[in-house]
Amino acid sequence: MINNSYNKTNGPLVGELYTPGDKSISHRAIMLGSLAKGTTKIDNFLDGEDCLRTIEIFRQMGVDIQQNGTDVIVESEGVEGLTEPKEPLYFGNSGTTARLMLGILPALPFHTVAYGDPHLTVRPMDRVITPLTEMGANIDGRKNGLYLPLSIRGSSLKGIRYELPVKSAQVKSAVLLAGLFASGSTTVVEQASTRDHTENMLRAFGANMESSGLTHTINNENTLIATDVTVPGDISSAAFLLVAAAIVPNSNLTLKNVGLNETRTGIIDVLKQMGAHVTISNQREISGELLGDIQIKQQSLKGITIDDKLIPRLIDELPVIALLATQAEGTTVIKDAEELRVKETDRIHAVVDILQTLGANIEETKDGMIIHGKSALTGGAIKSYSDHRIAMMGVIASLISEHSVQIDDISSIDISYPTFFEHLNQIQQQ
Ligand code: S3P
Repeated sequence: MINNSYNKTNGPLVGELYTPGDKSISHRAIMLGSLAKGTTKIDNFLDGEDCLRTIEIFRQMGVDIQQNGTDVIVESEGVEGLTEPKEPLYFGNSGTTARLMLGILPALPFHTVAYGDPHLTVRPMDRVITPLTEMGANIDGRKNGLYLPLSIRGSSLKGIRYELPVKSAQVKSAVLLAGLFASGSTTVVEQASTRDHTENMLRAFGANMESSGLTHTINNENTLIATDVTVPGDISSAAFLLVAAAIVPNSNLTLKNVGLNETRTGIIDVLKQMGAHVTISNQREISGELLGDIQIKQQSLKGITIDDKLIPRLIDELPVIALLATQAEGTTVIKDAEELRVKETDRIHAVVDILQTLGANIEETKDGMIIHGKSALTGGAIKSYSDHRIAMMGVIASLISEHSVQIDDISSIDISYPTFFEHLNQIQQQ
């Protein structure tokens, strides 16, 4: 067991902080910047492991990408300038790189092989491969081409109309990106709104696409125009600090320039419904995305029910919301969240295992969990399941635990929040 490197105190979280750039938007900025001819400057890029995988893949296909921490310059000859990679493409742990690149690679006039780390290798790719195959994509691989590693042979694609069987922004994005290159028009119909960063950024780069409610259509007459992108702070990373400030006594924290896109702010709704003191200010739009400052003060909380109406707007925040619920009076029910079973790990199982070990009263259900609060957390030894959001949830739990929390491996935190411990040290009072 390796102790986490953070010097835990039980002091309040106080002050102001800029959380790192949004992971979803950083990936998309590299992708569209690489497909557009010209120079794309990206400001506040997330310098985390997942987004670095996306940079590396486009470099392997000949794009000149200069990265200096959170500043990135993409110089591309456009999609015609992309060249066949000599080595297999490595998606690492990144589901977003995998699913979105599978929307791009099948239309490129060459062959690619792609693989991932052991966690990504067992995550389902059929959800993107099924519609892409209908469009004419030529993808093959393990288990009849449904799991990584995959081999992709470029071919011509045709537009389709696709009703999404899962509430997934990654699947929506893969089909829309393939639609950039397909003949005719490509329409995706969602069951519920999922994050719309792909649609926003495609529009910003000049793509011919329209959205009406849950229906999104992209036409193939597209020349993407290189466009500078300022990435807002990631609300999914901010969520860990927001929950920490909501449960550590006497906290008063302000997170600046956080992305407030309506499809991502379910965590704010949950905090408010539970009774937390949350104030939003300084709202404005940059690069087609809303952002602003979030102030939170610790206050007593009550249990609530979180179901399908909210789930797509807070899917990545559910592990830390479960921790929040352990500190709320009464019962919190999280349901309609079966997608958590196919994230970086089975997050329903992982969260219940960890919070039970730490002394919470929590039960696993088929599609979520039930948490009875409020419980005093004791501490103990937990596994992170090599999942960044599970590891960070464990660290935040340690802030309110009576004894220390030992986490077997915290290296995965670099995937989405490389400055996590530095930030915690900045805001936590002794
Ligand atoms: C993401 C979409 C979500 C989310 C993931 C990032 C994206 O996945 O969980 O962390 O950038 O499009 P699904 O679309 O599969 O739900």
